Amino acid sequence: MESNYLQKFYDKTPDERITALQSAGILDEEAIANLQEGLKLPQEIADNMIENQLSTYELPYGVALNFLIDGKDYVVPMAIEEPSVIAAASAGAKIIAKAGGFRTTIQKRVMIGQVALKNVPDSVAAEQLILSHEENILQAANAAHPSIVKRGGGARRVSVRILPADDVEGIPAFLVVHLHVETLEAMGANIINTMMEGVIPYLERLTGGEALMGILSNYATDCLATAECRIPAALLAKGEFSGDEVRDRLIEAYQFAYVDPYRAVTNNKGIMNGIDAIVLASGNDWRAISAGAHAYASRSGQYRSLTSWKKAENGDLLGSLTLPLPIGAVGGSINFHPAAKMTKEILGYRSASELESIIASVGLAQNFSAIKALVTEGIQKGHMGLHSRSLAISAGAVGQEIEQLSQLLKGEKNMNLATAQSLLAQIRGADTVD
Ligand code: MEV
Repeated sequence: MESNYLQKFYDKTPDERITALQSAGILDEEAIANLQEGLKLPQEIADNMIENQLSTYELPYGVALNFLIDGKDYVVPMAIEEPSVIAAASAGAKIIAKAGGFRTTIQKRVMIGQVALKNVPDSVAAEQLILSHEENILQAANAAHPSIVKRGGGARRVSVRILPADDVEGIPAFLVVHLHVETLEAMGANIINTMMEGVIPYLERLTGGEALMGILSNYATDCLATAECRIPAALLAKGEFSGDEVRDRLIEAYQFAYVDPYRAVTNNKGIMNGIDAIVLASGNDWRAISAGAHAYASRSGQYRSLTSWKKAENGDLLGSLTLPLPIGAVGGSINFHPAAKMTKEILGYRSASELESIIASVGLAQNFSAIKALVTEGIQKGHMGLHSRSLAISAGAVGQEIEQLSQLLKGEKNMNLATAQSLLAQIRGADTVD
């Protein structure tokens, strides 16, 4: 559903875009002032966030449009340096919105922590002991972090994995104890790490083994998010390709990424273009999300596409993306980073689950857009069109020269830095540009 305030949004100036979002009721006066000032991270906060801090590193902060998710419209903030990501997400989401939007499923939000034990005298007996003492282990874990229990969360279940020795590589056996923890609205890394360290003495006594470490697992297989869409083929026609042809080619693109890891990595990188950008904008740990997503893509033993695209019985295109999304709606820099606070305001999400739904939908839209371009007109047309501005800046263009040079570059066969520099020289009436 395209509302008026979104019309030609990309053609507006940043101030006009902010005004458009204000008239749509998405931004209030304070948010507008913050956006216009530039969402600066105060030096004092930055200095207290990391060791040896010197300055801050900035990225463009923009919004992807047209996201209709579970019946609700969203304007999706993204922090990203790559020119085509927001354009691609918005274009993909626009077609999916015409088809009824995204449907999402968040089954549960349970995080996993691990204790690795070595030199356990009898792993099979130890496994039985651990499982029969599950209540005590949960109690020890919850006692280590009582505040999460008070809020209604806490450690819920214990499981055990016996990892046999690998004599060829000289790797000893490990007995790995997992705690499954409800961290509610938080991502919960600190909660879990505290709990894991809290249960170590008890586990050592119980098993006779020696703990190597206790730590959260970023492979959050108990925190999966799914986004799906169903698109009538008629909405897919592009250039010389009919809707049915585009649908079939999209399915083949998925099949290619399913069987070939070389393609799957690029396919999934495209998905993560959008996911990392919103995860970063939301103040969450994008390295954790990326690491978990790529591991999940390998769950069958081969690295495969994270999305799937199939044909429904009536000929519609069915898209689906499932991945671990252990993000938080509170905690970490979410509470104090100006951009993370702005993202919360713009999205208006009320829970971590809702944020998961948005993030998974962004990933699906991003993949849809990328593979649709790849199997029709190719990626370079759109990419280079958007890249022309960055290239103009790299060549040294300033002010109005940027738009002028970007337009000239779009007409060039070889759009590269050398061409940009020579065109800039022509614009300036000079022979060379330093
Ligand atoms: C570029 O950042 C992302 C793509 O390569 C993704 C893909 O190939 O699916 C276009």
